[in-house]
Amino acid sequence: MNRFDGVKVLITGAGSGIGRATALRLVSEGAAVFAVDRSGEGLAATAASAGPPPGLLVTHTADVTDEEAVAGAVRAAAGRLGGIDVLVNVAGIHRTTPIGELTVADMELLFRVNAVGTALFCRQALPLLPDGSGVIVNVASSAAAHGNPYMTAYAASKGAVLGFSLSLAAEVAHRGIRVVPVSPGSVATPLAGPHVLPAGQDVSYYGRIRAPFGTAEPEQIAGVIAFAASRDAGYLTGAEIRADGGSHI
Ligand SMILES: NC(=O)c1ccc[n+]([C@@H]2O[C@H](COP(=O)([O-])OP(=O)(O)OC[C@H]3O[C@@H](n4cnc5c(N)ncnc54)[C@H](O)[C@@H]3O)[C@@H](O)[C@H]2O)c1
Repeated sequence: MNRFDGVKVLITGAGSGIGRATALRLVSEGAAVFAVDRSGEGLAATAASAGPPPGLLVTHTADVTDEEAVAGAVRAAAGRLGGIDVLVNVAGIHRTTPIGELTVADMELLFRVNAVGTALFCRQALPLLPDGSGVIVNVASSAAAHGNPYMTAYAASKGAVLGFSLSLAAEVAHRGIRVVPVSPGSVATPLAGPHVLPAGQDVSYYGRIRAPFGTAEPEQIAGVIAFAASRDAGYLTGAEIRADGGSHI
């Protein structure tokens, strides 16, 4: 498929996991991708995996919580690619903390990276996105809508991404710009897995969650994001896509 021939994409969190898989998927479908991450090492590994043209992958190191760096990344993307058609916000962090141990610093960090970082990129990129065809895909989480013990602050930050995205969709609909939140369930990346659960706590809840389709590979979520960003999804905006392998059916 070459759904993204000539399409210019800025994607964050492209140095690992879902963001890397999405960047590679979009390049493989012909996109010119401006790949942002705070990890230069991660971006180098992503670039090393990208295939030959017609797609293009350019990397750029930036921290999504740094307002100046976000503005600089958007400017650099537009300059290098000749514009931005699609913004995909994937960068994020995860923490599990029992409520009694939750600190203001934990909460602020999770919100700053997951919610504020996403909002900053949307704000900076929106004036450049083309009316009638611009797209924003924001990665939230199934945790935004389904309770998970020890994930209160993470879930709240992802609920913020979800709510932000739905309201933004309403705000920019008059320009013909689509905004789609994608909420993965459990995905096999460095961010997830049993290793993130807090020690010495009752984590039996997690053993009871049964995703009929198992844990996702990042490429499976990349496929969903690519669909949401593509013209195939041209009538889709302001609606969450929950890709959790049936965990909550
Ligand atoms: N893995 C899962 O099970 C799962 C489930 C639901 C949602 N998600 C969401 O998917 C997104 C991607 O997660 P992943 O599983 O691929 O994790 P990952 O750790 O493999 O990748 C996250 C990437 O974001 C980058 N990043 C983190 N903070 C940053 C910052 N301040 N500035 C710039 N880059 C930053 C990291 O360097 C990393 O490359 C996250 O938003 C995460 O919350 C993941």
